[in-house]
Formats: sequence, structure tokens, C-alpha cells
Amino acid sequence: MTAIPGPKSQELLARKQSAVPPGIGTALPVFVTRAGGGVVQDADGNSLIDFGSGIAVTNVGNAAPKVVERVQKQVADFTHTCFMVTPYESYVRVCEKLNELTPGDHEKRSFLVSSGAEAVENAVKIARHATGRPAVVVFDHGYHGRTLLTMTLTAKNMPYKEGFGPFAPEVHRVPLAYPYRWPSGPENCADEAVEQAIDVITKQIGAHNVAAVVIEPIAGEGGFIVPARGFLPRIAEFCRANGIVFVADEVQTGFARTGTMFACEDEGVVPDIITTAKGIAGGLPLAGITGRAEIMDKVHAGGLGGTYGGNPLACEAALGVLETIEAEDLVARARRIGEIMLPRLEALKERFEVIGDVRGRGAMIAIELVEPGTKEPNPAAVAEIVKRCHAEGLLVLTAGTYGNVLRFLPPLVIPEHLLEEGLGILEKAIAEL
Ligand SMILES: Cc1ncc(COP(=O)(O)O)c(C=O)c1O
Repeated sequence: MTAIPGPKSQELLARKQSAVPPGIGTALPVFVTRAGGGVVQDADGNSLIDFGSGIAVTNVGNAAPKVVERVQKQVADFTHTCFMVTPYESYVRVCEKLNELTPGDHEKRSFLVSSGAEAVENAVKIARHATGRPAVVVFDHGYHGRTLLTMTLTAKNMPYKEGFGPFAPEVHRVPLAYPYRWPSGPENCADEAVEQAIDVITKQIGAHNVAAVVIEPIAGEGGFIVPARGFLPRIAEFCRANGIVFVADEVQTGFARTGTMFACEDEGVVPDIITTAKGIAGGLPLAGITGRAEIMDKVHAGGLGGTYGGNPLACEAALGVLETIEAEDLVARARRIGEIMLPRLEALKERFEVIGDVRGRGAMIAIELVEPGTKEPNPAAVAEIVKRCHAEGLLVLTAGTYGNVLRFLPPLVIPEHLLEEGLGILEKAIAEL
């Protein structure tokens, strides 16, 4: 309807600039009035195809009917009691579902908090308490949040850590099996990365000092890096052999996004603790920590929790999300999205040397852009393509340690004609570049 951003969005943007600090960035400065069905509408009447899902949150679609229905009923019944003061059933039901749906048939316990970072912090607290050990091991390209501990766990300095130190102690970083950039080639990646990680843990930290290894099964903000096959199971196996709590951070990869309910399932990895958020509640603030009962039960009463954790509106939303995933078989839909996108993007890679790598699983797909003929990261090309996509009405997001990754996270309910239209816009943008 208008240029992007249109006049109303520009007016709102000026108000944002005087009311909100610049530390809160804006990927695409259109102000939203409605969203759903894979489309975001803005204040100027523009419709944009959504390849972002609010960063992997609205997997079931925005304002999904089952979520809306449950939340509307709940908001009229009661809005908050604090689960630690007077409990309610929906919280328990969400935890039962998490215990049932997460990998492994061992006895589990779950509890709820309000953000992904809070979930990861709690996982570390519990692992330290259960093991009596101080150290935490994380990976290159990892992202775990913006609180003091989780920004320390995060790899990338700018923008997440710059100027925010000093950081939390006892956090150690090891290499991630990043096939595209592994120096001796993708075929050696899993073996060498496992070897290097174990070497750091045993020689520099001491395995007996490590409480937890925290890893994203597919690195999200780091650039949708799918670790070389074999890496995750072998790291999990090393943890098991050394009494280290293996924490899978599935905040971005969870809830059908990658074509399985959780990304760990792809290689049959069973984490000791799994952290979830984002896709869990269709946009209402909710996150979960699910772990082996014997680890979770060690913490004393009152040691865990928070005022808003497992808010009743968010719990109802989560139950609506889980019903939708099941009723619409969104796990299969995610796989189908991958089957449509990956060959299209592979074909583009053949045509355009600026695309160095195409990767991802299910509906968590990315392309890494490089200087043609090299592997030199090309963030300028990403910025240019994003600008063109936004102008043509396609919402895409960036990622990557080197800022050179375009990532695609469509809602799993997106109609195929919109997916095709979005891919067409992307293709045109790359061709023009
Ligand atoms: C893997 C991972 N962990 C943790 C977080 C932090 O979640 P939140 O932004 O809800 O605190 C994110 C957010 O992007 C994430 O992708």
C-alpha cells in the first residue's frame, strides 16, 4: 500500500525513538496492527509475508484460534495468583505434557518461568546444585540470552556483551562442529570438534569440576549451524560418562520447528535437562525447564520459581499450542516446509556464488552469504538482500557470528502459496544483487 515503512509507521518510529532507548533495536520498522496465517499487517495497511514468526515463537501461527479461545476464557476467570502461593491445574498440565513430550522415557519433572534466559539460568543452577561442581561448558557460536549468566554463556561479543562485563565466573567455551567452516573440511568436523572439546574439558577445566554442558542442538542466533552428525551424541555420551549434566537449550529449536518435536530427537540424543521457551506458548511469555527427576528433586523448596513463572494465561496458551501442533500435525508441516525450501535454496546456491552454504532442518533454514569465490563472510550482501525483501513485503531475519546469515522461520501453518511467493521475492532480491 505504501513504501516500507509507511507514513504511520514512520510517525510511530519517531515516537519510539524518543520514548525507548536505542539498545532495543528494530529489524523492520513497521508497526503491527494484526498478524496471522503467515501474514503481518502494519499501521499503513501493508501486508508482509512472515518468514520470522517473531523469532521462532508463533510456530502455530499468530493469534492461533485455540490459543485465543483458551486465553480469552482464562483472562475472564483469573489473571494471576502466583503458582507458588495458590496453584492451578493448567500449570501442572503443561508440566505433564513437557515431561511426556521431551526426549527420554525416564521419570521427569518440569517447572515454568517467563523467558528463555531464565530457563537456561535455572538449568545451570540446578546442575550446580545437583553435582556440587562450579564449571559450565558452552560452545562457539552459542546464544543463551541477555542476563548476566546467559550473556556470559553467549559467544558473540557485539551486540550482546560489549560493555556489559564483568561476566559470570566459571564459564568455559569449546569449539562447535561447524561443518561449513571447519578448517580441515566437513568430513573431519565431528571427530575433531569432539576431540578438541573433550581435550579442553579434561586438560583445562577437569571433567570432575564441570556441572553442566549447555548446547543448542542447532545453533540459532549463531547462524543456524547444524552440528556435524555424531557431534551431539558423542558430547552427550562424554557427559554421561563423567557425571556432567547435559543441558539441551531448545529455546529456539523446540516445538515442532525442526520437523521433530525437539531437535535432539534427530540423532536420538536424550538430554538430562532441556530448556524450552519461544514456541511453547504462541507468544505469551512462558519457558520451561524439564529434567531427570533425580536431578530436579535435589533442590530444596523455595530454591526455584518466580512471581510470574507459569502465569495462567501463558499456561492456557501453551495448552492451545500443543493441541494445535497435534491437531494440525505441525511436525509434518515443518518437514514439508524444509522439503520445499531446501531444494529451492540449493538451486539458488548453484546460480549465485554469493551463497556459500544452505542449511537447516524443517522450518529452521538459513543461507550463509560470502564474497563470491571465497568463504569470506559477506554481511553487506545480507543487509542489501534484507532491505530489498522488506521493501517487497517479505519479513526475513538475519543471524550469525559474522552477521552474514539470512534465516527463515516461517510459522508452520503458513500456506504453501505464501511460502512460494516469499521464496520468489527472496530469489529476485538475490538476483538483483
Ligand atoms: C537458544 C536460545 N536460548 C535462549 C534464548 C533466550 O531466550 P529469551 O529471549 O526468551 O530470554 C534464546 C533467544 O533467542 C535462544 O535462541
